[in-house]
Amino acid sequence: MAIIGIDLGTTNSAIAYLKGEKPEIIPNIEGGRTTPSVFQMSPNNEMVIGQNAKSSMPGFPDRTITEVKRLMGSDETVMVAGQEYRPETVSAHILKYLKESAEEYLGEAITEAVITVPAYFSDSQRKATQKAGEIAGLKVERIINEPTAAAIAYGLENMDKNQHILVYDLGGGTFDVSVVEIFEGVVEVKASAGDNSLGGVDFDNTLADWIIQNFKQQEGIDLLDFGSAVEINQRRAKIKLEAENIKKNLSSQTNVNINIPFIAVYDNAPISVNLNITRDEFEDLIRKMAMKTLTEVDKALEDSNLNIDEINEVLLVGGSTRIPLIQKLVEEKFGKKAKKDINPDEAVALGAAVQAGIKSGQIDTTKGIMVIDVCPYTLGTEVVKNIGGQIVPGFFDPIIPRNSTIPVSEKKIYYTADDNQTSVDINVFQGDSQYADQNIFLSNVMLEGIPSAPMGQEPIEVKFSYDINGTLQVEATIVSTGKRASSVVKTKAGTMSEQEVKLAKSQVEKDYQQSELYKEVKSVITRGERMLKSAEGLEKEKLASLLQNIKFALEKNDRELVRKYEEELTDLLIELV
Ligand SMILES: Nc1ncnc2c1ncn2[C@@H]1O[C@H](COP(=O)(O)OP(=O)(O)OP(=O)(O)O)[C@@H](O)[C@H]1O
Ligand SMILES: [Mg+2]
Repeated sequence: MAIIGIDLGTTNSAIAYLKGEKPEIIPNIEGGRTTPSVFQMSPNNEMVIGQNAKSSMPGFPDRTITEVKRLMGSDETVMVAGQEYRPETVSAHILKYLKESAEEYLGEAITEAVITVPAYFSDSQRKATQKAGEIAGLKVERIINEPTAAAIAYGLENMDKNQHILVYDLGGGTFDVSVVEIFEGVVEVKASAGDNSLGGVDFDNTLADWIIQNFKQQEGIDLLDFGSAVEINQRRAKIKLEAENIKKNLSSQTNVNINIPFIAVYDNAPISVNLNITRDEFEDLIRKMAMKTLTEVDKALEDSNLNIDEINEVLLVGGSTRIPLIQKLVEEKFGKKAKKDINPDEAVALGAAVQAGIKSGQIDTTKGIMVIDVCPYTLGTEVVKNIGGQIVPGFFDPIIPRNSTIPVSEKKIYYTADDNQTSVDINVFQGDSQYADQNIFLSNVMLEGIPSAPMGQEPIEVKFSYDINGTLQVEATIVSTGKRASSVVKTKAGTMSEQEVKLAKSQVEKDYQQSELYKEVKSVITRGERMLKSAEGLEKEKLASLLQNIKFALEKNDRELVRKYEEELTDLLIELV
């Protein structure tokens, strides 16, 4: 059974598998090589995922979810057609669609996957991704970093060269940069840095704001300031979708017309947007964000202890690297042309498929490729410090320094801070500030039963273990007694319990069944609705009531009832023609 590789992107996802020795993209059910990561519940409760959901988004903004990856690892939920969803559940729907696409294409059941995440994803974001896979019915064999996956795809083609490459991955929602050494078939990440909320959608939002501002200046009308809330949402969605198109066009043209016909009715007259933007103007809008990526590049370079001229190749990954300004800034920085011969939309999924092949044994690691990755952030605990005889709390003490090769396990000994202290609460943080509260709080481990002793006498050993999937386990031991407390880091937000996963699974299953049931009777309903327009009198009444009944049965997800009304509806339609 194949293990597939999945690139679960903020804006686009892709799937791949290993065909023989080479990874290949699996097209989705509609034939697309990538799938927009968009989830929609139509007014008939039909689930729509991918391009169709994206295109019809402006019509149903309250039924469509985009960019859910940005919420992964948080407790923020989204509403779709009055139903509440956790981000993991929405992602699960997208993963389920990808899984089915793979099953259809490969003609076999798919139950295992390697899923990629941004290198800079935190512990809770990784765990949320794993849960999403589980909810979708996939055993997540490995979580791997997106730039690492891209480096693997590149490495597979360039095994004979020993070199340092820098992967610059600017996608729809995130930016990652990794410095990677490739030698003798080993792909070794030296350092990663990045920004989890910087990507193409931020350019879209900025451009959408620009359109709204400029329209206001030109026409004196604020497009977000009249009509109902639903209308405003629809308008905003339309402008954003258009902004993305304009942005893409600006990658190949230096001047683009912005035409959005009949965007609204204002003072009883239809209004349209008619503006023009130059590439220069667009570049000014995104320059600050583009420069931010270079700061991260510097950080990764510094952590890898390599100079710019020791980087042999710069690999551009992610759709946003098609932007000329991005290419220019990167190429100027490195003083050389970037490599564009790998497909920026597909490289990550291809690399994930290779990793899946390594996992399944399809790729012989003794002869072939081996992957070594790092933990991109510093992990540590909160400690008190004795400053001039005064105990000051709130300091951060690193245990695993950022860019340590993984898996990694580090221990440190701490001492009690008070006389007769019997318990210690170990707070776990991620970040690089010397102050704990300026870093990201991950979790805490409580250790009790410390023997009474003067302060500073009882040693406590704290052990951090960070595994190859990027998840952290913390263990604390009272050295004198051997008593131990441990926990797989449960982040304050975002980690679903087994019970919640089970519930989410049934929610996904219910949505799915309901949608499938609708699809079975969709053509009859469509014909019925068409017929309704021309029918008259008693027949019209009969038809309308049957349509209402079948929709009600669909709403209740009652297959038998749906089938019954479908039959009646079919009979009536035959009578009517
Ligand atoms: N020609 C182009 N010019 C500018 N931007 C483009 C172009 N083509 C695609 N993009 C942008 O690239 C982004 C999608 O890239 P990609 O599919 O690599 O991201 P993703 O995998 O969804 O996101 P992430 O990896 O950040 O989670 C979108 O924002 C899209 O608008
Ligand atoms: Mg991506």
